[in-house]
Amino acid sequence: MEAWLMILVSLSVCYLMRGILTLGSPTATAKLKCMPPGPTHIPVISNILLLRRSFSELEPLLRRLHAKYGPVITLRIGSRPSIFIADRSMAHRALIHNGTLFADRPKGFLVVNTNILNISSSSYGPNWRTLRRNLASEMLHHSRVMSFSRTRNWVLQTLLTRLKSDSLSNPSVRVIDHFRYSMFCLLVFMCFGERLDDAKIRDIERVQRQMLLEANRFNILGFWPSITRVLLRQRWQELLALRKDKADVLLPLITARSQKQTRLKDDVVPYVDTLLDLQLPDEKRKLSDEEIVMLCSEFLDGGTDMSSTALQWIMANLVKYPHVQDRLVEEIRQVVGHREVEEVKEEDLHKLSYLKAVVFEGLRRHPPGHFVVPHAVSEDVVLDDYLVPKSGTVNFMVAEMGLDPNVWEDPLAFKPERFLNEEGFDITGTKEIKMMPFGVGRRICPGYNLALLHLQYFVANLVWNFEWKVPEGGDVDLSEKQEFTVVMKNPLHVHISPRSKKSTA
Ligand code: HEM
Repeated sequence: MEAWLMILVSLSVCYLMRGILTLGSPTATAKLKCMPPGPTHIPVISNILLLRRSFSELEPLLRRLHAKYGPVITLRIGSRPSIFIADRSMAHRALIHNGTLFADRPKGFLVVNTNILNISSSSYGPNWRTLRRNLASEMLHHSRVMSFSRTRNWVLQTLLTRLKSDSLSNPSVRVIDHFRYSMFCLLVFMCFGERLDDAKIRDIERVQRQMLLEANRFNILGFWPSITRVLLRQRWQELLALRKDKADVLLPLITARSQKQTRLKDDVVPYVDTLLDLQLPDEKRKLSDEEIVMLCSEFLDGGTDMSSTALQWIMANLVKYPHVQDRLVEEIRQVVGHREVEEVKEEDLHKLSYLKAVVFEGLRRHPPGHFVVPHAVSEDVVLDDYLVPKSGTVNFMVAEMGLDPNVWEDPLAFKPERFLNEEGFDITGTKEIKMMPFGVGRRICPGYNLALLHLQYFVANLVWNFEWKVPEGGDVDLSEKQEFTVVMKNPLHVHISPRSKKSTA
């Protein structure tokens, strides 16, 4: 055989063998598949139409598209395809069965965090693992959470005092401001180890909320950074100014802590101390000041915004449905009533199964986030016969899953009883996803146990100390509004009066 022919045959055989050998690999199989269906994409025009919509407008559109195309759809938003999964079994196959593949984040998707190291926007890799492990073991481990018991009690007393004084001068109290302020007092202490004065707490609340409330406006910048850097220069400037404002407020607290390094009462270790000690494994270096600012800021956001939003939704339902409030008070009376105490203690909480059911029902019916943080796959994968490309984002529709009529009878109703039949309801969705207010799988919210403790502790004590009623001529409107979380469009106003601890039964 001629030499050139031999070379050609050998090359063809190699090429064929390579094809056969890689045929079964996820990437090769993925190449043969199509992405989930969706509306026709008209370049530029579709992008502009979608980018102009706010998140709250996107949700009804997604619902209509799901009704037309099925439980998984593709939209092209900006420069990448966005896949939206509304089906809980499919979410389970993605996040639990293929947990590692689906644990990444799209590059640069959260513009407010670009070039910044934090847990929620880090790629699935060594830095993410180190930061998440630090938060989980140094702050959220049971023993560490317990070391902040006295702080929670101090914050509870502050909250009760504020509500009482507001209710004495006003027939109806707007509660969200008190809830948010209290959560800031608590998380600021957990973060920096200091009880700060009112003005400082307000300043931290201001810089944190400013960025959150603008997050949707800024995130548009990330869908097409090369273009938005030119067309939306002003908005980029605003983002940088807000970041500087935040650093100006948080950095002095971090510096103060790094200079003190004293032990605190009750063996309390504030989050910032754990960050000052931390080493990034690959880069073998400590965190920069800017990185510590962002990590503290993430900790404050997670613990304050989500929790105060959830607390307001739960209390709104207890006001709207007095029979649920009465049943909860009766349960508390059975457990702590004989002590005639003002406080439901943390150690009482595990005996209050209806309280837990009320909190779960609040999170099912009104999850603070209607989507989890966008995920990405680490390589092209096939899920239920559809291609999920590495270049895309994968979004999970949390609110839709909590309303699935195949799982939840009468899904729009607020019925905590449904959780009483669920022996040890699994919020982590490991065996099966029935709802996922904290996400599930590798990226599940690491703070979910702390959040549940805060919600149970505050809800129990709020109803045990006060009667919560609709004010004269008022109403509880459960309409929603998208801020960073999905909040009450018309914040809860209530009439609050001291509760008699004696049984009415
Ligand atoms: C009611 C309260 C809370 C709700 C509903 C909530 C919900 C969530 C959700 C849905 C995610 C995204 C999961 C995913 O991407 O799949 C998340 C992530 C996260 N949450 Fe929470 N959260 C709450 C409280 C907290 C608290 C108290 C903290 C810490 C103090 C916290 C820290 C975080 C962090 C660091 C992440 C990023 C995890 C990662 O990317 O690996 N959250 N949370």
